[in-house]
Order: sequence, then C-alpha cells, then structure tokens
Amino acid sequence: MKILSVVGARPQFVKLAAIADAAAQRDDVEHVIVHTGQHYDATMSDVFFADLRIPAPDVNLAVGSGSHGRQTGAMLAGMDEVLEEQRPDWTLVYGDTNSTLAGTLSAVKMHRRVAHLEAGLRSFNRRMPEEHNRVLTDHAADLLLAPTEVAREHLAAEGLAERTLVTGDVMTDVCLRVAAAELGAAPALPEGIDPTADFAVATLHRADNTDDPARLRAIITALQELPLPLALFAHPRLVAKAREAGIALAGGSLHLGEPLAYPDLVHAVQTARAVVTDSGGLQKEAYLLGTPTTTVRTETEWVETLEHDWNQLVPEPARIAASVARPHPTAARPPVYGDGEAARRSVEALVERA
Ligand code: UD1
Repeated sequence: MKILSVVGARPQFVKLAAIADAAAQRDDVEHVIVHTGQHYDATMSDVFFADLRIPAPDVNLAVGSGSHGRQTGAMLAGMDEVLEEQRPDWTLVYGDTNSTLAGTLSAVKMHRRVAHLEAGLRSFNRRMPEEHNRVLTDHAADLLLAPTEVAREHLAAEGLAERTLVTGDVMTDVCLRVAAAELGAAPALPEGIDPTADFAVATLHRADNTDDPARLRAIITALQELPLPLALFAHPRLVAKAREAGIALAGGSLHLGEPLAYPDLVHAVQTARAVVTDSGGLQKEAYLLGTPTTTVRTETEWVETLEHDWNQLVPEPARIAASVARPHPTAARPPVYGDGEAARRSVEALVERA
C-alpha cells in the first residue's frame, strides 16, 4: 500500500514528521514524499527535515516563489509526471497552502484518491488564500481527516459528513513529543533578551498584516513599544515587505531573529510569558504549551484556543500591548486537539481504505 505525501511549506513539514513516523512503524506501508519547493530557504525547510528526522524527499519539484497562479500552476505541471510514475493508493495533502491545492487538483484529475489531513478548518474569511485552498481541497478530496469536532461540524454543514473522520491533530503529536524531550538550558533568543527574565515571542507573515505598509508600520510600532522585550522571528515575507516599505523592524522592545528550528520555537514559547502571532499553528502550540497568546487577526481557525482567554483576537495594533499585559489565565486547557495519536490513526484509516 503506497501513500504519497505532498508538502511544500514550513507547517507541512511538522505535520509530515508525524505521518512519516507513523508510516515507518508499519511494514505494509510504502511512503513517498514529494516536496513542491514552495519553501526553499534552509531555515524554512531543511532544518525541519533534519531536526524532526524526516526522510529526505523522494522528489523535489523546486517551484520556488511566485504569484499564487504561477506557483500553483508550476506545481500542477510537475505533479502529473510524479503521479503517473508513482501511482499511489492514496495522495495525502496537508493543511491549506498552495501546495495542498496543487497536490489535490493534480491527483483528482489523474483519478488518484486524495486524503486531506487537517480537513474542515475554516476562518470564513474569503480574503485569505488559505481559506480558498481549504474549501476547494475538502470538496475535491475522498477522505477528510479532521483534527477536531468543530472541524467535523464545518464539514457536515457543507454536506461532507460521509467522507469525514475525526483523528485529532497531528501537529499536537509532534508538539507534545518535542516538548517532552530534553530541550537544553536556555531558548535560542536574539541578542539583548535575557531568557531568565520576562519576554514575549512573536511571528508575523499573513499578507493582510505584511502587504499594506501603513498597517505593517502600525503593528511594528506597537511591538517596539511593548513593556517587555520581544523576540520577533521574522519570516522572509515580512523581511521583504518591511524592506520595500522602508520600515526598520528592530528597535525599542523588538529584537529581531531568524525563523527558528521547530524544537527551538517550542522551547522559546514554553519559556515566554506571552506570544504575539498571526500564525495558525503557533496559536495552537502556545495553547498546548500553556503560554497566553495575542493573535493579530480578526478570526481564527482554532476557535478552541479562545476559551478562557488563552488566546485573544486583537486586529487593532493599538490594543496589542493591553492584551499582552493581561493576567495569566488560570483555567484548565482541555485536550481538544487530541491525545498525540492522530498520525497513527490517520495512517491506519488510509490502510483500511486502500
Ligand atoms: C505559506 C502559506 C501559509 C503558511 C505559510 C507558513 C500559502 C497560500 N500560504 O505562506 O498558509 O502559513 O506558508 O510559512 O501557501 N520566501 C523566501 N524563502 C522561502 C519561502 C518564502 O524568501 O523559503 C519569501 C518569498 O519572497 C515569497 C514569500 O516569502 O514570495 C512568501 O512565500 P509563500 O510560499 O508564497 O507564502 P507564505 O507567506 O510563506
């Protein structure tokens, strides 16, 4: 039984780590990895394969960056040949990126069955490219592996209940495994931040926050004026957009760092007093690790994190400081994202339906 995973962007490598591991535990599964090349910088791709001990990709389409149409189209063109040669029983696509949509479209057109991991998430914000990618993928795929009950309800509301299976969240598998490992003495923080005192961790990369210079400037100013030091691990899109707009990222409370390897990020979040982000995955990781989060967006796909103030949606830059300074939540964090066995369950589901 052959599973062909299509990945390309940073969060997908984390999910792939869990699936590759679960597939390797079975001798009835052959697992082929296709990297589209959407992310290609060492800090955005290679370190994830090395640190999370993911086998090297069998195929790399090396598409690189481009507009949505060009990037997705280049992936589609590359996938035909790969699927023709590999003929997998299942093509497995992950999350909501352009690599997810391209993997799905090419497989359905080649009459190969597709399973979507992390199905059923919705922001209901049709301005987000990720929302188009999710909705289109869920409606085209044959099997929908949903991380939560809320995701299952979204799929049922769209008439997709029969293809849905709730497995838990595979990112939780990896996050819990990494957090339980020995992570060393101090987290990797940019120079100027004392890891033994209070500090916050930030990431920012959504087009809605980075591509409008006035909005980006307002967010960066708010971060620079926070009452505690902040480590901003800057995505290449953020660095490029700030440079274009003439905005200096470092300054005041804001200390600038490169994107972190996954274990380093988990360690930094575990140690931090607060997280400020617009990433989907990081909101959930902070919840799992018990660090309160301020999400610089109008909505979230991971609505469970909003319970009891563990996460707050704060799109207005002027309100970020008050949110970061709120009292530490005391409420319990129920295991809504699964028990760390989601990948095993997902691979089992594919084998049973081969
Ligand atoms: C993509 C996903 C997003 C995910 C994010 C994680 C889509 C539509 N979006 O967004 O859902 O949260 O990955 O990081 O697929 N760049 C580099 N080097 C790299 C990668 C990107 O320099 O290795 C730069 C390029 O200038 C590129 C820009 O970053 O144009 C954006 O990269 P892209 O892959 O288009 O989307 P992300 O913003 O990373």
